[in-house]
This record gives sequence, C-alpha cells and structure tokens, in this order.
Amino acid sequence: MENLIKKAANTIANAQNIAALTGAGISVESGIPPFRGQGGVWERIDPMEYAHIDALIQNPVKVWNMLIKEMASMVGVAQPNDGHKGLVRLERQGCLKTIITQNVDGLHQKAGSTDVIEFHGSFAWLRCMQCNKRCETGTADLSVIPPRCECGGIFRPDCIFFGEIIPPDVLMRSHQVSSECELMLVIGTSATVQPAASIPMTAKAATGAVIIEINPEPTPLTEQDSDIFLQGKAGDMMNRIGKFMPSSFGFEI
Ligand code: APR
Repeated sequence: MENLIKKAANTIANAQNIAALTGAGISVESGIPPFRGQGGVWERIDPMEYAHIDALIQNPVKVWNMLIKEMASMVGVAQPNDGHKGLVRLERQGCLKTIITQNVDGLHQKAGSTDVIEFHGSFAWLRCMQCNKRCETGTADLSVIPPRCECGGIFRPDCIFFGEIIPPDVLMRSHQVSSECELMLVIGTSATVQPAASIPMTAKAATGAVIIEINPEPTPLTEQDSDIFLQGKAGDMMNRIGKFMPSSFGFEI
C-alpha cells in the first residue's frame, strides 16, 4: 500500500491539470453520513419516498420533516476534514483546477476551494417552488414546516432531487473540465448515480487521464477505470499522500 500511495503522490505532484470528482464519502469524516453502504441514509429511508421530486411536490411536509430538516441541521454544523483540506492545498499549488462535487454540503467551499461545481446543487440555499426566489438556508425560519416564501409558495432546497435533470450549464462545464484534465481524483463516491458516475470515463476517453480513486470500498470504477485505487478513508488517505508530496504543497508532515 505504501508504494501505491507514493506512486499516487508522485503522479499528483507532476500533474498540471487535475480535476476532482467527490461524493458523500469525503464528508463522512466530517460527521455527515453517506447515502449508500454502512450507516447510509438510504438504508433508513426509501429515496423514492423521500428524495424524489414527485414526493416533494405531493407531500412537502413529510419530505421536509423526514429528510430535509435533518440534513439541514447536519450540514449547518459540519466542518471540513483533511480530505477537503488536502484538495485546497492542491488548488493553491495550482495543479488542481476544479472540483466537481455531488455533495450539497458546501464543505469544499468552507475549506477554501474556490472552483467547485455543485453537480447536484446546494443545501446552502432554498428556492421558492412558486416564484423561484432564493433565500439562504441559514437565515430561513424553519419553526414552521414547510417554510414559506413571502409569495406563499413553499421553499425547497436548491438541490437536485431524483427525477430532476442536471442543469445544462452544470453538465457542460463538468464535461469541459473532465475532458481537459490529465488526472482525475475520484474521492468518496459509490459511482452508481448517473450522469455523475460517467465523469471519470469522460476524462479517460478524452485525454487518457489517470484516475486515482480513494474509497474504503471498491466501486464499479475500481476495476474498470481506476489506474490507482487507494483503499481507505478520504482524510486519512490524503494525509498519507501528503507525506510523500514536496514540502511546497504545504501538507503537514
Ligand atoms: N472516505 C471516503 N469514502 C468513503 C468514506 C470515507 N471516510 N466513507 C464511505 N465512503 C464511500 C463509500 O464506500 C461509498 O462508495 O463513499 C461512497 C458513498 O457513496 P454514496 O453514498 O452513494 O454517495 P455518492 O456517490 O456521493 O452518491 C451520489 O446519490 O443519492 C444520491 O444525490 C445523492 O449525490 C448523491 C448521489
């Protein structure tokens, strides 16, 4: 394993155009549970019953009470971990250009990353389902569920529910980033939800990008597309990679 980590560190240190694709796993060490796998949110509740756009439209109170309120409270207190911080170091060094995240928790930005594509939107904002007015989640009055806009419409999180499409500008920019990078770090995603799951394949097909995957469990990508699979937790693995990086990258050794 140490040799593999060293190889990954060398590849990262020598790359000039890196992109990262992150998923729920990168925030697990920040106390936010993943969706799938052990302790996953979808183990407790059925996503089709609570995270589908039709469920939200038909019964917003149920979806707010069961899913959104809990997520909003977790996201509000969570702090970035060493996985998020490691990506900030790579961006400051100039080699990591863009993070494409499936997460709606805002932790990459909280850590200091500046170019983050929120592929599935964000929990930081609510949007009125009637007039589309936006309001910061932190400032919304959640004492009455569902929260309402001054127009009387119901606020929803400004993120993608099952049954909704990814906005075309987000898709286009993600496609551009992935087809230009020479290395893609794939961290903490089960790589099962499309179209995000095919982003590493886009990178590979376009430039022959090297795929470095960090995850405690193998995923469908591991066999198929990953060139280096580092089995472990995001924060822990980022620190282990950091030990082999030149000191200019600013990893504490
Ligand atoms: N570090 C890194 N990876 C981890 C860690 C950790 N500490 N803990 C768990 N993981 C891995 C799991 O092994 C799993 O492969 O993170 C992955 C989490 O998978 P999912 O919960 O499926 O998260 P993600 O891939 O982001 O899901 C995609 O599905 O439900 C939708 O909209 C939701 O954006 C989400 C999308």
